[in-house]
Amino acid sequence: MSITPVTGVLGAEVRNVRLADLEDADLATFRAALCEHEVVVVRDQFISPSDQSTFSRRLGPSGETPFVVTMPDHPDIIKVVKEADEGAAFNFGGAWHSDFSFQPEPPSFTILAAVDVPPWGGDTVFTSMTAAWNALDAATRERLSTLTAVHTARDAYSRKMQPLHSGMRGMTIVCDDSANDEFRHPMVCRHPETGRTLLFFNRAYVRDVEGLEHDEAQALISFLHHHSTDARFTYRHRWLPGDVVIWDNRSTQHLAVNDYGGFRRELHRTTIAGSRPVPA
Ligand code: SIN
Repeated sequence: MSITPVTGVLGAEVRNVRLADLEDADLATFRAALCEHEVVVVRDQFISPSDQSTFSRRLGPSGETPFVVTMPDHPDIIKVVKEADEGAAFNFGGAWHSDFSFQPEPPSFTILAAVDVPPWGGDTVFTSMTAAWNALDAATRERLSTLTAVHTARDAYSRKMQPLHSGMRGMTIVCDDSANDEFRHPMVCRHPETGRTLLFFNRAYVRDVEGLEHDEAQALISFLHHHSTDARFTYRHRWLPGDVVIWDNRSTQHLAVNDYGGFRRELHRTTIAGSRPVPA
């Protein structure tokens, strides 16, 4: 196995592996690389849904998948799909987020496997929340370390959002009132495997900050969003057939770029259960 960084900040390409046949000894190296580089790209896998499920389980138990209807034969796999004629109005994952951060124990890792990729466009962009934390000045770090973020799926999956999702032909998303639940996580966390400090934040699901007045909370959310998604912290993945990309959901945010109208895009997504975020 060879591991080559793809930027100076996050992301690495792992070569000479077949995920479906990874030896136990290599799995530990692979997992360490994933935590270290935060996003790992493995080309030419053409992994089947069964092999993706099996490989996912080797990283940990399946995460819970609310709101999105999964594949009938593979209840742990979301088919992320936009048909060629669906236009450019809405795409799944098209706003900066980390997966299901509104859960009490958000996923540790997400695995996305290319099934049908457009000839151009449809990239996924990742940002390192470790790098975003490291770039903050001491006073801002000190302030953020005292704060608790309020995560909720309200503005993504509550009933008012159903018309947006119902416009998708390739995916079934069922909004319900549980999306209004709130869950609080520390704004600054310690990564449970690397021990590194990171910002645990994303604007899609952090909709308030405990103890702050509304305007102050919204100003902070806006600042953190713009800071953490600055181009200098990012890696942009250009999908090729057969790619598998795995990210550490605890230390990254990501965004699916919606710029491939007229082409079909299908990827298969699994999430691995995580643990409760702990303050740094
Ligand atoms: C997601 O947010 O899980 C989907 C990302 C993508 O389709 O690139």
